[in-house]
Amino acid sequence: MAQIRNRQSGNGAASQSDQNGAKGQVLQTAPRVTLIPGDGVGPEVTGAAVRVLEAAGLLINWDVQQAGAGALKTLGTPIPDSLLNSLRRTRIALKGPLETQVGQGYRSINVYLRKTFNLYANLRPTRSFEGVQAPFRDVDLVVVRESTEDLYAGIEHQVTPGVVESVKVITARASTRIARFAFDYARRNRRKSVTAIHKANIMKLSDGLFLKCARRVAADYKDVTYDEQIVDAACMRLVTTPRAFDVLLLENLYGDIVSDLCAGLVGGLGMVPGANYGEKGAIFEAVHGTAPDIAGKNVANPVAAILSGAMLADYLDHKEAALRIRKAIGEVLRAGQTLTPDLGGKATTSEMTEAVLNAMTSVDARLSE
Ligand code: NAI
Repeated sequence: MAQIRNRQSGNGAASQSDQNGAKGQVLQTAPRVTLIPGDGVGPEVTGAAVRVLEAAGLLINWDVQQAGAGALKTLGTPIPDSLLNSLRRTRIALKGPLETQVGQGYRSINVYLRKTFNLYANLRPTRSFEGVQAPFRDVDLVVVRESTEDLYAGIEHQVTPGVVESVKVITARASTRIARFAFDYARRNRRKSVTAIHKANIMKLSDGLFLKCARRVAADYKDVTYDEQIVDAACMRLVTTPRAFDVLLLENLYGDIVSDLCAGLVGGLGMVPGANYGEKGAIFEAVHGTAPDIAGKNVANPVAAILSGAMLADYLDHKEAALRIRKAIGEVLRAGQTLTPDLGGKATTSEMTEAVLNAMTSVDARLSE
């Protein structure tokens, strides 16, 4: 059985020097990962993911950290130093969603973390599962979203009362880097095509530069088909023939919007996991937000968070555990007996998580046959 330790940073349970200390104790060999339960449904769904990772046999030394609205209330800041220090140490996190107010309040902590730790590639694999009622049955696409610049750079100012400007920043460096990530991903995962999605007919300079960079990178990957679509037409095609898409390459804002649209194709926001990758670290989190309408009711769909946990397991090179988790999720969805209300069922988050844990036992037995 896996051993997972929860601790608050600074409580003395395990210091940084432990990693170089005596070998042979579970705590000292387990990778340290920051766990951010987050706001709203975050603690419910990340709790589910932690339980499933444990059952899959992962040894993780969790460093539990507060952030967002919860941290503002208890610690007086939405980005406590202890969180940043933890991320500097671990460079890996499993994260629940964080609240950001609309039109006021502090800036998005998600955007801040992605920029601060240079987590430039937001990957959102979106696929249909048998047993899930959704507009399509055979979707299998991957959104690759640049996540350090664009309108999310947060450069906004009032020119004069009644007139504001938001600056869209697109650089060749970031555009080339994300294009290379998308093509590398496509090649490694035997994906056939990369589609760059843009609005360069209107934003000729910024989206034009993004496309130029994508085309240059595409020339190095003759084995992967490259094409381009204007974002509005791409949205129409996504909701009519999603199977025509494979890897989608997008700037930050289009990527954010299009990935929620894609979630709608496969059963909703509760179904799509995500990861933010950089050169030196990664944060794993579901696509969905804090879901304030259902927070605290034990009805949130834990699948997206659990599948984000499977991506974390892959990253830690526990491929077999990741496979076991995905198979167990597939079985629970296919059986259709223990589904949360967003999937048309009556199960609670806890019941669905238990079903996944039970399914993992039968998957384990079959894998060892
Ligand atoms: P949302 O994703 O929280 O909710 C949209 C709809 O999807 C709601 O009806 C909700 O109940 C449903 N939903 C979401 N996750 C679900 C799940 N696991 N199971 C069942 N139903 C689920 O988006 P919304 O309402 O626009 O944003 C709420 C808050 O979350 C905002 O403060 C926003 O800034 C924040 N947010 C944070 C993100 C992050 O931390 N990565 C991402 C997106 C939004």
